[in-house]
Amino acid sequence: MRYHLATYGCQMNEYDSAMIAQMLARFGAVSVSSPENADVIIVNTCSVREKAEETAIARIFQFKPVKQANPDLKIIIVGCMAKNRGEELLKKIKFVDFIVGPDQYRKIPELLELPKRKRLAFLDFDLEENYVGESAKILTPFSTHITIQRGCNKRCSYCIVPYVRGPEKYRLSSDILREVNEAAAQGVSEIMLLGQTVNAYRDGNETFASLLNRVSEIEGIKRIRFTSPHPRHYTQELLEVLTQNPKVCHHAHIPLQSGSNAILKKMRRQHDMETYYGIIDYLRSADPLYHISTDIICGFVGESEKDFEETLEAVERVQFDTAFMFVYSPRRGTESFKETEILTEDEKKERHTRLTEIQNAITLKRNKLMLGRTETLLVERLSSRDSSEMMGKTDNFKKVIFKPEGNVKPGDYVKCKIDDIRGWTLRGTLETNE
Ligand code: 5AD
Ligand code: SF4
Repeated sequence: MRYHLATYGCQMNEYDSAMIAQMLARFGAVSVSSPENADVIIVNTCSVREKAEETAIARIFQFKPVKQANPDLKIIIVGCMAKNRGEELLKKIKFVDFIVGPDQYRKIPELLELPKRKRLAFLDFDLEENYVGESAKILTPFSTHITIQRGCNKRCSYCIVPYVRGPEKYRLSSDILREVNEAAAQGVSEIMLLGQTVNAYRDGNETFASLLNRVSEIEGIKRIRFTSPHPRHYTQELLEVLTQNPKVCHHAHIPLQSGSNAILKKMRRQHDMETYYGIIDYLRSADPLYHISTDIICGFVGESEKDFEETLEAVERVQFDTAFMFVYSPRRGTESFKETEILTEDEKKERHTRLTEIQNAITLKRNKLMLGRTETLLVERLSSRDSSEMMGKTDNFKKVIFKPEGNVKPGDYVKCKIDDIRGWTLRGTLETNE
């Protein structure tokens, strides 16, 4: 049995795909990069913005001729759009065989054995399903993602995630530590812990802060990252671990969404700007180079010019290392979908352009602050521009290009003096191989 797996969307989807890959491997299936050679094609989809769904649908339609050429081929749609569009996908896309929502992935191996021409959807939420005992295939030999929380309880008014991924569920800490131990035993030294509001994590007395400490005690683990934290769940205990545990990287993606308290309230974000600045000030006073990235939505319903200017001010005040900036996309079924938009698509895009220009200048300024420093890099791969060079990342998640010497290879930790910047890209000179 040969399978081809295409993944769209966030790191949670990447993790789920890697978990499905592992389930299929147990079943004896092997992965193939070309869909034409596959017995089954699985498409893991995203729903967060309209465009994400359009991209997934376009991709699914590219598989139509493959199915026509090979009628025994099974096509399975999984992930957030599978849950969001459900049976409608079976009705509208006749060559699709199965639709499987995020809590039903254990069914996938069985589906491959079903007689052909059965077309089914498995969409139910399962509050008990935490995929206990499962491990995802590791992403690279030295770094991997591990999901610790599934679903989301926040119900921000623009967001479809709670409707497609269901309510928040925390994985048992014993199961998480088992998976980290297995990855470390295979040589992984960097772990990215995942959850929609990852720092809300709880398992009995275990908090996100205590879990970070426990992961850091596992032999072989050198760097711990996580995404995405919610501003509401930065406790004092967590702030201390983030700034004091040397294995927890100085890097956080903290979604802001808007710099206006009035809009944050309409978004039902459960945080205000004062809370947000409190976190940033704590982290950046411990380390001015603490990498902070964010998500911002431009042109949310009811966002006035003044509200938007407050977002621009917040961006200047925080000095984000990078930002993912989105144009508001109304999603059917969410709270804010019911409200009439006043801004046109062009007006929303114009705000997005203004914000992007300001943020780009800040990103460059933040990168320049790294010049002159000697940093430890985790070497990831050959440089995509020049294969005689390599790319590694600093603890604070900056990419650095350098010329390797000796037998430097992906997964090594090396010391580099950062001495140049070309465009946005930092360059360094190798000092020692750790
Ligand atoms: N429109 C635009 N952006 C959205 N996001 C979530 N829902 C929407 C939407 N309806 C953005 C948020 C979130 C990121 C993953 O996607 O900024 O943090
Ligand atoms: Fe969506 Fe808000 Fe949950 Fe993030 S915290 S997934 S934006 S509802």
